[in-house]
Amino acid sequence: MFNRRSTTPLPPGKYRMGGTHFKNDQAFIKTAVGDVQRLEEYCGLTRESALLDWGCGAGRLAVGVREHFGHIRDYHGVDIQAELIEWADQNLAGPHFRFSYVNVSNERYNPEGLPDRTLAAAPGSVDVFYAYSVFSHMNDEDTPAYLQLIAEALAPGGRAFVTCFVEEDVAPWEENPEGYGPLDWKGRLHCTRFARWHFEDHVNAARLAVDRFEHGRETDGQSLYVLRCR
Ligand SMILES: C[S@@+](CC[C@H](N)C(=O)[O-])C[C@H]1O[C@@H](n2cnc3c(N)ncnc32)[C@H](O)[C@@H]1O
Repeated sequence: MFNRRSTTPLPPGKYRMGGTHFKNDQAFIKTAVGDVQRLEEYCGLTRESALLDWGCGAGRLAVGVREHFGHIRDYHGVDIQAELIEWADQNLAGPHFRFSYVNVSNERYNPEGLPDRTLAAAPGSVDVFYAYSVFSHMNDEDTPAYLQLIAEALAPGGRAFVTCFVEEDVAPWEENPEGYGPLDWKGRLHCTRFARWHFEDHVNAARLAVDRFEHGRETDGQSLYVLRCR
């Protein structure tokens, strides 16, 4: 797509990424550019930033960075699905754009993966951290552990933009809550929902603070958090 190497289309539905939300290429690019603009506005993303796109899938956000900025200092996409990273590496990687596969376990996306959690980022190296629809598929042990890793990875003044399902007056953590949201949740970690107080306890325990909270306006009714180090 970017570098004019082979542009093999990803077979629809073969890989688990964003469900049916991206109806065509234009919608896909529009959401990506919109998110890059929000990263600029909410998290201070600039051409000089190092951006970590954690759970990048096939690199949707990289397309938005390219459209909006041309490039930034460092876009780094990380995912646990080897085929998606292989595709992104062949089609989207180039100067200032790189992708890493990590063989880490997630019951939905990589159940045979290793238990050792990593963000594949050096401590203090990330100006802007982005995790769209990643905590929406995460168990209640991985979540606080990854929030801790985010706090370690952020550079001074850095911000993290993450989405997840949070509601008031629900169980602390629930998998595939019946009757909740627009979909009929199926299979491990299709939808993981947190009580707001519980997710924010994890945030506080990681020594992060909430900079911005917007309830229910993201994909399938997820909420947006912008987090910073305390
Ligand atoms: C619903 S998709 C979202 C993809 C992308 N963020 C987007 O918005 O287009 C969730 C992605 O998170 C990835 N993922 C889940 N757990 C992960 C982990 N521990 N480390 C890195 N990626 C992970 C999955 O492989 C999947 O590609």
